[in-house]
Amino acid sequence: MKLALGTVQFGLPYGITNTAGQVAEDEVMRILHRARELGLKVLDTAAAYGESERVLGRRGREAHAFQLYTKTLPAGQAGVDAAAIRRVVQGVHGSLSNLGVERLDGLLVHHACDLLGEGGQDLYAALLELKAEGVIERLGVSVYSVAEAREATKRYHIDAMQLPLNVLDQSFASSGELTRLKQAGVEIHTRSVFLQGVLLADELPAFLHTLAPGFARFKAVCAQAGMSQLEGSLAFLRQQGVIDHVVVGVLDVGQLEQIATAWHRSAAHIAFDFTACNMESLPAITPSNWPALQKEFR
Ligand SMILES: NC(=O)c1ccc[n+]([C@@H]2O[C@H](COP(=O)([O-])OP(=O)(O)OC[C@H]3O[C@@H](n4cnc5c(N)ncnc54)[C@H](OP(=O)(O)O)[C@@H]3O)[C@@H](O)[C@H]2O)c1
Repeated sequence: MKLALGTVQFGLPYGITNTAGQVAEDEVMRILHRARELGLKVLDTAAAYGESERVLGRRGREAHAFQLYTKTLPAGQAGVDAAAIRRVVQGVHGSLSNLGVERLDGLLVHHACDLLGEGGQDLYAALLELKAEGVIERLGVSVYSVAEAREATKRYHIDAMQLPLNVLDQSFASSGELTRLKQAGVEIHTRSVFLQGVLLADELPAFLHTLAPGFARFKAVCAQAGMSQLEGSLAFLRQQGVIDHVVVGVLDVGQLEQIATAWHRSAAHIAFDFTACNMESLPAITPSNWPALQKEFR
């Protein structure tokens, strides 16, 4: 299990707790440099993350030293037809050109519904062709729920999957889905470890008040164990031994340093029980359900 670097923050002013805006390019350079020194191997981006791919492409060798995972453009609301498939495939070529590479280590379908709705099989077939041509090493999907993960793996061969997992949203762990995915040979990437930074704050934003009981229990476990909320968030992920990459987002090198230190320290905290923090049944644990201005970018 390793840390990986999320890059939506490089292309957009992303994140509910983010008051600093989009990361400046000279800071991106420092973050990438330090991430390499710290042994991170994977960058996660998407065609839909504003300037993110182009910013990485401009960094050239510094970005190309990582394994690059990007995501498809949305195929469209009304089912996937031939024109939509052409747009998505053109989008992949656009991503290659933005990133300045000839092949991708991973391509994830950004919205699982594009694979699971009408025409999804044709889209998958078109992307599989890109894999056969050597343009993509691993083909996978980004999901929001256990149900999407189950359906996607039932219908398709999935090499890699990105999914949400944190102390308040334990659904992939409690359902046994993580283990099942691992047994099926899927490379597992998790996101939302800090719930966009919310888990690291002293208090929840008012609109997330329904999560208060789980958040209070999380703070109590951390206080009892003498660990920071950063360490606690990461310790919970460490406990799920089957994860390949824990995707984290940072706004500056200082945050990356803190995460790396906390990741190291969290190894001593894997015995603590976070089960009582689980709020997985509540809509508020999913950032795409947050009010319009605070929406997670999807
Ligand atoms: N559908 C998808 O495929 C999808 C969706 C969302 C995200 N992602 C990927 O996941 C990546 C991470 O996004 P996420 O939503 O999962 O974010 P996250 O990693 O849960 O939280 C990142 C935020 O936590 C805060 N933070 C980090 N280190 C900190 C520290 N040491 N001290 C205080 N605050 C700290 C920062 O915000 P503040 O400093 O403002 O607090 C940072 O922006 C993205 O870059 C993207 O690549 C993918």
